[in-house]
Amino acid sequence: MLGPVHRWIWRDTERRAHKLLRFGETETDGGRDLVRASELTPDPLLRRLYLVHAVDEHRHGEMFRRRGADVLRALPPGVKPSFQGDWLAPSGHGADDLNVGEESDDDLLAFLHLSEKAAAERFSVYRDVLQDDVPTREIFEEILRDEVFHMNYTLVQLARVSPERHRWHLWRARFSRLWKGYLRLATALAGVLGSLILTIQYFVLLPPFAWLAKRAERREQPGWAPISPERNNSLRRQY
Ligand SMILES: [Fe+2]
Ligand SMILES: [Fe+2]
Repeated sequence: MLGPVHRWIWRDTERRAHKLLRFGETETDGGRDLVRASELTPDPLLRRLYLVHAVDEHRHGEMFRRRGADVLRALPPGVKPSFQGDWLAPSGHGADDLNVGEESDDDLLAFLHLSEKAAAERFSVYRDVLQDDVPTREIFEEILRDEVFHMNYTLVQLARVSPERHRWHLWRARFSRLWKGYLRLATALAGVLGSLILTIQYFVLLPPFAWLAKRAERREQPGWAPISPERNNSLRRQY
């Protein structure tokens, strides 16, 4: 349904380059979180899988960054930065900053499964709309295969470490993502409303004060004015 919006977002070469660079950062950040998760988990199989996953995310980061830099370098000089629309086409991966040290393995796996699923869905849309940029399209195609593997292994492992409560962990992670999405939306809305109210205040409250100041200025006599003798004593205090 959002195909035309994404096609428009990715058509602009400058925006595409910066988007790829930001996706690169998100992937590398995700890789770092997974290295930390592999240090903390007591489960040897999860440790190995988290490490493989971390290496994948690090590689995705490199691929996105390299392609973003190539696209940026190919731009003619003097191109102006365009509207980025990050909230319209996010990366899908842990945009909600994950605190690995505070999560148990089952919560982490549930969170990772949903993030990877979201990333896989978004990357398949981005791959489909990038028909005119074959190298970037191929990068999404390759990364998408890894994301599907990440999405599947996290679900299988969640069912292994928490056979009875894995559905409950998934619902909790879904609710947490929904809540964070709501908070992001509410923050953006508060920013827009704040700017609107301040603009209205500027145009409604300030003009009467400006008018009063101008009227007082007109009543002032130009030049020096003599002051009364009782105010003309020598100064004993500052005011
Ligand atoms: Fe990735
Ligand atoms: Fe991934």
